[in-house]
Parts: sequence; C-alpha cells; structure tokens
Amino acid sequence: MIKFTVITLFREAIEPYLKTSMMWKAVDKGLAGFDFVDLREFGLGPHRSVDDTPYGGGDGMLLRCEPVFAAIESVKAKDPSAKVILPTPVGEVWNQSMAQWMAGVLPECPFLGPLRGARPSLRPFEKGISATPATHYIILCPHYEGYDERILSIVDYKISLGKYVLTGGELPALIIIDSVVRLIPGVLGGAQSAEIESFSDGDNLEYPQYTKPYDFRGMKVPDILLSGNHGEIAKWREEHSGKA
Ligand code: ADE
Repeated sequence: MIKFTVITLFREAIEPYLKTSMMWKAVDKGLAGFDFVDLREFGLGPHRSVDDTPYGGGDGMLLRCEPVFAAIESVKAKDPSAKVILPTPVGEVWNQSMAQWMAGVLPECPFLGPLRGARPSLRPFEKGISATPATHYIILCPHYEGYDERILSIVDYKISLGKYVLTGGELPALIIIDSVVRLIPGVLGGAQSAEIESFSDGDNLEYPQYTKPYDFRGMKVPDILLSGNHGEIAKWREEHSGKA
C-alpha cells in the first residue's frame, strides 16, 4: 500500500483524475491511497494568505514558509515516515526508473541527489536523498511564481517533469502518482504488462501491437503475429522494440 498526500490550493483540479480508472481501482484493491491537505487552511491572517513578495524585489509572489511547514508538519505528525516531494522545473527530471523505485519494483535508488553538480553554497537548504523508498509521499504543489528557498529544508525529492514551466504543481503531482501507482504489483491488468514494465529501462519502448480488424484501410497486421509461432513472434517483438 502506497499513500500520496497532496498539499494543494486546487484539490478540485486533481481529485477527479484520481477517482478514475486505474487510480481508483488501485484504491479499491487497497494498493494505493490518496489524501488531500488544503494549503489555504494554513494560510496567514484573515485572508489566509499563503504567498508574499520576494525580498530584493522582482515580479510575482512566492509561497511562504509558514503555511507550507505547518501543512507538511500536520501530515508528518500522523506519519513521521512520510517523504516530501516538491515538483519544480529545477528538480531531477522524472523518468521510469524513478517511478519503478518509488513503486518498490527497482532496488537501486536512481535519484542522483540534491546538489547535481551545483556548489553547495548555492543550494543552502537542500537535504540529502533518502535511499529507501517510502510508503507515504507528501506532494507539495507550489503555485504562483515560486517558493521561498527555505522550503527546500523540508523537502526530500525535487522532481521536474521536463524543461518547461507549468503554472503549478498539480499536473506534475498527477503524473508522478499515475506513473508510480500503475507499476505497483497487482494494479495493472495482466501479469505480463507488469513484467514488460519491470524490465524496461524507460528508453526501451514496447513493440508495436495490433488488434482487430486484420486489414484497416489497406494497413495489414504483420502476418508473423497470426502465425501462431510463439518463438518467431517473440523474436519479431524483440527486433521491433524501439529505442527512444
Ligand atoms: N512546476 C512548474 N513547472 C514544472 C515542471 N516542469 N516540472 C515540475 N514542476 C513544475
């Protein structure tokens, strides 16, 4: 059982997806659990403010430390073992091995660690990467233009979904959750699909697949797949497993 607690201002943007298809089936089977914490509840003052202007000037608003720490601590008070994920464009770029490791199906930790070559003095509040996967992850979804650097002192994993900038952490949270949960043994339909996944290094794409009809607008299914020769089919599939 793996649990994700999402700290967000926009629960309504995330929840419907987690109540759909595979994610919901995983919950139904007791293999995954999802929970939400409303960051606004920990906001400051009458307006429950969670952000403020940057010291030194500049555009935009930054997520403040107090609401974020209070929200995370409220979850950790119930489960101190929970690890904190921060989706950010400057994190380690998410890949299949990281998802496999978090799902508990890959023994070696694929995360490189927090500094990634940068001088430690430039990254004063980063923590080390835990080398064992947790069973409870807290995903903090930042919004606005960014976050106070000191928030990194309470973060275990900084994860980027790619070299582009999104408006918030909700989409990254969903992608991280989906890619991990579908790998948990028992979530995917056939045992075979899990097997293919577990040998995949993420660069090794699956082979082309076909279903009925045999002939669609002149595009025919390769005859080898209808041959019944399992050895030859396996060879064909191996040959046609594309590299990314
Ligand atoms: N937040 C904004 N952009 C992001 C990205 N590319 N990956 C993860 N979190 C983000």
